[in-house]
Formats: sequence, structure tokens, C-alpha cells
Amino acid sequence: MKQYLKYYASIYVIFLIAIVVMGTMYINDLPNVMHEKIGGFPVVAKDTAKDSTTVAADLPIVKGTLSPPVDVMKYLNPTPDLVDKGKSIFTMNCVSCHGDQGKGDGVAGVSLNPKPRNFQDLAGWTNGPSITMMYKTLQEGITNRGMASYANLPPEDRLDIIAYIRTLIPGYPPITQVQLDSIDVLYSLTKGVKQPNQIPVKLATEKILQQSAGPDAKIVNMIKAVNTGKTDTGAVLLKNITNDLTKAFTVLAKDTTWSNNEAALVRIFANDPVQNGFRARASYMLSPQQLNVLHAYLRKLFSLQQ
Ligand code: HEC
Repeated sequence: MKQYLKYYASIYVIFLIAIVVMGTMYINDLPNVMHEKIGGFPVVAKDTAKDSTTVAADLPIVKGTLSPPVDVMKYLNPTPDLVDKGKSIFTMNCVSCHGDQGKGDGVAGVSLNPKPRNFQDLAGWTNGPSITMMYKTLQEGITNRGMASYANLPPEDRLDIIAYIRTLIPGYPPITQVQLDSIDVLYSLTKGVKQPNQIPVKLATEKILQQSAGPDAKIVNMIKAVNTGKTDTGAVLLKNITNDLTKAFTVLAKDTTWSNNEAALVRIFANDPVQNGFRARASYMLSPQQLNVLHAYLRKLFSLQQ
């Protein structure tokens, strides 16, 4: 009986040790746990964060839109309903600067120079008061003179506003079929305007790399060769300076300028190294001789795959 008690005692001790060990591991890991979310914002993992110096400004993500086709010909003789709709869109978007009578005396325009256009005065316009020119103004803005682009308003809304503005005083040049045709062709309005999704270039290249349905056979072979050639200096150097061989090989396969030019090879891992599967500091890690060895190794590796 005494023997058994001894066993129980040792199990107790083992438990105690296990709890202490696990507790220590947990505490050591705390910085990682905390990295994931601080104040509800995901925080970039350490490895990617160190590379922020290489991150250049990229395009923001913009969701694409499809504006429904516009029957431009209805603007030859705008109905009162259409003009009313134009008025309410004008009130929401333009009155603050252009004023509720369109006299250019809105509160937000007081401090502007040049002043917001007085729509009741047809002299001295920058683009001009014809429907074609007003549409151009709304599409592109006159940004250096304080008039923003309203390309985010659906084309139909913009035409409705224009139809409304033109009722403020007689004397606007008449809207002609030729002008409507030309707006239609220029901005393909009857087809419906498609503004494609825009994503950052980086994300796009990443997607392309992911979508290529896994690395192709050549790349798989090359990775095998690198992993089996552990004693080969070239293979060791390559593994030292890469994070992701598949990405690195994909990039090297796409841009072969490096094949007879060491400097071009360096450029590939000096520009955007992490994105290209290399270590952030890859371009500082090689002596000229090592670069030479690596270059020769890569050439051999690639040429064997041809
Ligand atoms: C932040 C103030 C501001 C807002 C809001 C604004 N505009 Fe303007 N707009 C201006 C200024 C300033 C000018 C004068 C630009 C110039 O003289 O070249 C101008 C000029 C114009 C012109 C005349 C362009 C020409 O050929 O001279 C048109 C047309 C126009 N705006 C339409 C609109 C419409 C329609 C809206 C609403 C959808 C709008 N603007 C909202 C400030 C504004």
C-alpha cells in the first residue's frame, strides 16, 4: 500500500511541474497574443512590420460601380419631374457653394477665390455653359480653381442637375441632339458606365501569384533541387536570403533580365524583397563573391528547367 502512495505522490509532483512549465510558456507567448489585437485594430505581425520602409504609396481599394444606362435623349426636352429631381440633387450637393438661386453666394463659397460660379451669369465661364462643357466640369472638376469632380454622382443625376441649372435663367445655349450624342459617345452613357474595382497593385500581384493554382512543375522541381543541395554553397546562400522560395522563383521566372546580369538580380530582391519572397535585408546580405556564386547557381538551376 505504501508503494502505491509513493506513485500518487510522484504523479502530483509531475502535475505541478507541468502546470509551471505551461504557465511560463503562456506568459512568454503573451507579447504575441497581444500583438494580434490592440484596441480592436489588428496589428501587423512583427515580420511584415519591419519591412514598412519598402512600402510605397499604393492605390486605395475602391469598389467598382455600374451606373445604369442613361437615355440621354430625354434631355432634349426635360420634363418638370426631371428638373425637380435635378433641383433636389443640386440642393444636396451644390447649394452650399453655388447658393440656392445658383448665384454663387453659398455660405461655403464665401472664402473661395475664384468664387463659385454664378449660374445666372453666362459670361466668363472656365469650361463653358453648354451641356457638354458642364458635364465635363462635373466629370473632371476644375480642381485647381476650387470646383471638385462629381464623377461619383451617377451620370443621370449629373445630367438632371444640369437640366435644373439651365432653368435658372433663359439664355443658356440650347441642348442639341449632336451634343447629347457626343456626351453619350464620350462617356458611353447609353451602355451604362462601368467603373471597375480598383485594388492596390501589391494585392493584385499577390492574387496573381496565389491564383496560378499552386506553383508550376518547374518551380516545384527547383525547390526540390535547392532542398537536396544542402551542401551546395549556392543553395545555402539562396535559402539564407529567401523567405518564400515559390514566390522568389515565380518572380525570377517572370523577369529574366537577371539571367546575364548580376546587378539586375540584386535589383529584384532590393525592390520589394518581402513581396518577392526574399528577406527584407537580402540585398545587404551578400558579398560580391557570394553574389557571383548565387548568380551562377540560379542560372544553372533555371537553365536545367528549360
Ligand atoms: C466647395 C464649393 C463648391 C461646390 C460644393 C460645388 N462647386 Fe461648382 N464651382 C465651385 C467654384 C469655386 C467654381 C469656379 C471655378 C472656376 O471659375 O473655374 C465652380 C464652378 C462650377 C461650374 C462652372 C464651370 C465653368 O465652366 O466655369 C459648374 C457648372 C459647377 N461649378 C457646377 C457645380 C455643381 C453641379 C455642383 C454640385 C454637384 C457644384 N458645382 C458644387 C465651387 C463649388
